[in-house]
Amino acid sequence: MGTLRDIYAIQPEETNWPVPQDFDVNFNWEYDDGRAATMGLYRKGVEMQWNAETRIDWSQELDEDNPEQLPEEMLPISGMATYEKMSRKEKAQVRRHFQGWQISQFMQGEQGALICTAKIVTQVPDIDSKFYASTQVIDEARHVESYKRLLQKFNVAYPMTKPLQDLIDQVLRDSRWDMTYLGMQVVIEGLALAAFQQIRDNAQNPLAAAVNAYVMQDESRHVAFGRLALRDYYPQLTQKERDEREQFLLEACYLMRDRFDAVEVWKTLGLNVEECAAHMYDSGFMQKFRGSLFTRIVPIVKDIGLWGKTIRDSYEEMGIIGFANTDVQALQDSDVNIAKEFDARRAYVESVAGRAAAE
Ligand SMILES: [Fe+2]
Ligand SMILES: [Fe+2]
Repeated sequence: MGTLRDIYAIQPEETNWPVPQDFDVNFNWEYDDGRAATMGLYRKGVEMQWNAETRIDWSQELDEDNPEQLPEEMLPISGMATYEKMSRKEKAQVRRHFQGWQISQFMQGEQGALICTAKIVTQVPDIDSKFYASTQVIDEARHVESYKRLLQKFNVAYPMTKPLQDLIDQVLRDSRWDMTYLGMQVVIEGLALAAFQQIRDNAQNPLAAAVNAYVMQDESRHVAFGRLALRDYYPQLTQKERDEREQFLLEACYLMRDRFDAVEVWKTLGLNVEECAAHMYDSGFMQKFRGSLFTRIVPIVKDIGLWGKTIRDSYEEMGIIGFANTDVQALQDSDVNIAKEFDARRAYVESVAGRAAAE
């Protein structure tokens, strides 16, 4: 199995990406327990740790023609004339590259989450938030590990796309502590959760589905954390300060929606980028798919109180305002239960295999 360097379809320009920092690291001398909700989340974070090495059965393989065994309509260029004319082998290569590109963005984004959460630990003033965020740091390391191992089975990887890198760069450089939460915990993690869910719920491949289910079990705590911290903080700001956050939020949402277009894949495979982009834009499925990426973001934005007219009008125009009434708690509970079902499935398969071996 190749190292990441061996399987990158496009080599990253540098091995390291330094981002200059300009913010105060905060100590806190009051070791009192802090807010019950945050401490509850911390306790959960400690208790629900898992080991990617043992919880996931890495002996499972991906499918040769369609690695994650996803429905064909989830490939953005399915239905495009050039694609439909391809041989079975060529189509298999397109699927492997597109799905591998997507998992690569998950892995790269998870490293972003790892770094941002470490920044939160050092910068956030409250001790309870430091406690909780420290559990999230190890969660994110485990997610990077899990996606990296999955990616190696694709035998292809892609660097972080420019729009994601720009957004992470912006939140990391910002000296206001809440901006890291807003960019990472609300926007990037919110989008990521919806994208993970598409794979968890549609992949027929048990390995690909399980990795996403287990990561989502942790992510539901992460989004809850962003929501708790910001819901307390934003009412204390002035209207002007809240307007700045709303502006940032909108730009980030548009950026993620419009520029996350897999152009690196089409280029690598020698396809006509304009034709692919036009197909993606017009395809009804992709429009619905892009809209559904916001299911997890919109209700949180409303809940933390960044719900001015500009945001509401823009969400209306993007066709995603209806998600404002999503029951976030129900989604989080279901994420946890689905992960447990994957554990039960594995235990069942192993017990059947064990019995068969004994007979
Ligand atoms: Fe994560
Ligand atoms: Fe996360």
